[in-house]
Amino acid sequence: MKQYFKFELLKKDKNTFARRGRLTTPHGIIETPCFMPVGTLGTIKSLMPSTLEEIGAQIVLSNTYHLYLRPGTSIIEKAGGLHKFMNWNKPILTDSGGFQVFSLNNIRKIGDDGVTFASHIDGSKHFISPEKAVEIQQVLGSDIMMAFDECSAFGASRDEAYTAFKRTLNWLDRCVKAQNKKEQMLFPIVQGNMFHDLRLESLKETLPYADVGFAIGGLSVGEPKETMLEILDLMAPHYPDDKLRYLMGIGTPDYIIESVLRGIDVFDCVLPSRIARNGTALTSHGKLVVRNGQYKDDMSPLDPECDCYACTNFTRAYLRHLINCDEILGSVLLTLHNVKFLLDLSCNLRDAIDDGCLASFVSQFYDKYNS
Ligand code: GUN
Ligand code: ZN
Repeated sequence: MKQYFKFELLKKDKNTFARRGRLTTPHGIIETPCFMPVGTLGTIKSLMPSTLEEIGAQIVLSNTYHLYLRPGTSIIEKAGGLHKFMNWNKPILTDSGGFQVFSLNNIRKIGDDGVTFASHIDGSKHFISPEKAVEIQQVLGSDIMMAFDECSAFGASRDEAYTAFKRTLNWLDRCVKAQNKKEQMLFPIVQGNMFHDLRLESLKETLPYADVGFAIGGLSVGEPKETMLEILDLMAPHYPDDKLRYLMGIGTPDYIIESVLRGIDVFDCVLPSRIARNGTALTSHGKLVVRNGQYKDDMSPLDPECDCYACTNFTRAYLRHLINCDEILGSVLLTLHNVKFLLDLSCNLRDAIDDGCLASFVSQFYDKYNS
């Protein structure tokens, strides 16, 4: 039988939990550690797919919740699936919608069956169950579908966290039963909030459902950085070597590095594209607020160490001018740079693990980034 998916562990770092891996999917190979740019509505805002390929994106993330509401599943089905609709021929991962229902809707009702909510666009009523989330993702045709989960809020009581993690497991079982496409992979999601025993229990009960990989949800939801790292430290020794680990929703450079050191292979975040649109750049010397007056006549490149189109062709003064005038090109160039910055960071982490020099790469990166 044709094997559509495969995860290979290529190398383990000697001193940390970091590792190099390779995921094979029907739309191509993903080298890990890997950053996934976020294209919620079927586009990484302001970037053409050809540009994304040029800057080294291996996979993009899109959202079931948003695409189901707009343009609706039937239109994407008519286009022949999301890859064709958005003209992206590399792998796509779709989030299941559960998390987005919780974060975007005040009006929602969660039960064991699923979630009823009012659309954030027009207030219309909808119901998504685990079965429905899989059905939609099968129409989208993403390479990796996420299980429908309940992410309890940061600060939730132990009881609430327990209920959410048990419900997530029950929903996972229903997702698996609803899936009937071999060319798509379903990733289960570990929950458990910040409670150590619940995290470990969730991990243990979720792993049997991890065929090729699994995700860790419910982190970077407002907790202090140390709390998140504590949870990652807690789980790191318990991951099986042969499954890919995806940490959902993280993506500042320091969170990426700290996660990779704790055994994470894949991560995603809207941060680089979101902050680009309001004029903030991630650079090798830290965050740079291009809007600031100090750059108005600065004729140097955004990041002298970056070889992206924005950094090799334009000055800070020009980029600041574009952003200040709300010119579209400002968003385009800063998004391009920011996304490439995190793709390059992932690539450098891969090379450092391959070359056995991760510790020195990380300390050099931090020295510069925090200077
Ligand atoms: N994105 C960031 N965190 C989460 C999570 O806990 N669950 C899901 N489905 N998506 C996420
Ligand atoms: Zn650049």
